[in-house]
Amino acid sequence: MQAYRANLLYFKPAGDPRQSAVFESDGLLVVGPNASGTQMVLAVGAWQALRPRFADVPVQHFKDRIIAPGFVDLHSHYPQSNVIGSPAEGLLPWLENYTFPEEKRFAAPDYCAQAASFFIAELLRNGITTALTFATSHPASVTALFQQALQQRLRLITGLCLMDRHAPPELLNQPSRPGGLDATEQSLIDTEALLQQWHGVDRLGYAITPRFAPSCTQAQLRGAGELAARYPEVWIQSHVAENHDEIAWARALFPASRSYLATYADFGLMRQRAIYAHCIHLDDDDRALMRSTGAAAAVSPTSNLFLGSGFFDYAGADRAGFEYGLASDVGGGTSFSPFHTMLGAYYVAREGQSKTGLSLSPQHLWWQHTAGAAQALGLAGVVGNLLPGCEADFVVLNPQATPLLSRKTALAGSLDELLFSMIVLGDDRLVEKTVISQNHGAINAAPASPPGR
Ligand code: GUN
Ligand code: ZN
Repeated sequence: MQAYRANLLYFKPAGDPRQSAVFESDGLLVVGPNASGTQMVLAVGAWQALRPRFADVPVQHFKDRIIAPGFVDLHSHYPQSNVIGSPAEGLLPWLENYTFPEEKRFAAPDYCAQAASFFIAELLRNGITTALTFATSHPASVTALFQQALQQRLRLITGLCLMDRHAPPELLNQPSRPGGLDATEQSLIDTEALLQQWHGVDRLGYAITPRFAPSCTQAQLRGAGELAARYPEVWIQSHVAENHDEIAWARALFPASRSYLATYADFGLMRQRAIYAHCIHLDDDDRALMRSTGAAAAVSPTSNLFLGSGFFDYAGADRAGFEYGLASDVGGGTSFSPFHTMLGAYYVAREGQSKTGLSLSPQHLWWQHTAGAAQALGLAGVVGNLLPGCEADFVVLNPQATPLLSRKTALAGSLDELLFSMIVLGDDRLVEKTVISQNHGAINAAPASPPGR
């Protein structure tokens, strides 16, 4: 067992996410292994109250620091670190001119390995301990990321990017060999093989990953939906309703569906554990579909502002009652930093809802990137919080990290003022340490060999 003394920030298990944060000045966080050896939170609360119960447990004191849950990033692209900050007249030219050329480089396993190690290091530097992320259409890109996430014990979910049309030929899923299975069938076989190999290994998860409807044939979406039905415990990730040109294209390709979003439902790709990036241009029927299927939105504000895609409608989402959480969407997004993403979400809510003048509370912003994002993934009570029973992933924040942060946070007269100062002024410098739950037992079923392709 190990205990950490510091100021603590965490979230009540239920209630209004706008005001569910708990701040314990001079608190104690006690962690210890569960039956399989994974470090879990055993107790959280005031130092004074908890110390007698854990008098024999060694304590590490982070004086004047804040221990908070590790951040949960609901959507990003690990192959797009180099694409950050590539200007374009919207999503489709950005994909064509910057993103697809970079993703082609992942045909080389060495390139995948160095990109995976850079990406994971950036997540950790920025305090992200759980991530749902895209790989490319190359099976080796999935393997490279899983292997490195396993080494670092990151809670990471990824999957083979499904795209069997409307992309450069090198990026389309490839047939196994000339005269063998066609590319679409092979992409589904590769998906199932990777899923069986990696899902549930230690803290790793698999996500069935159709890039977006325009890049997939009906046969590929149908196959993906069949896999989603056969493996209800795995995740699904895709994009929807991000950009007007994209939407028009999706509507032209799938005219039988009621809407772009409904296309995914028609192929069995909307259910719990399905995370759709963006969800900007939805109507009320779409929002009701999100709610009734249990799918969740990955709100990606820095990406939406950078690419000029539009503004997520928070009021509409709350009216319908569907789940959502925050995402960096690197490399459409401009930063790995959860602080930048939370600030972007604040701007989006202010500007996008100017008629109603919606201001997201700092507690709600923080919740969306921790406990709320975990809930969207179906991992409430597992990650994204510091309540007993959660995996012991946390960040140590230094509110004195920069002269301005130090000056401003010292003036905070309330929890909301303190959180807002960090959201507005924070970046990777605020994150002094990222602690990942360790495992001192045997790791379940680590793969013996890399997949054949
Ligand atoms: N839609 C399809 N692919 C992508 C992508 O890589 N990034 C974003 N932002 N939207 C997409
Ligand atoms: Zn994306």
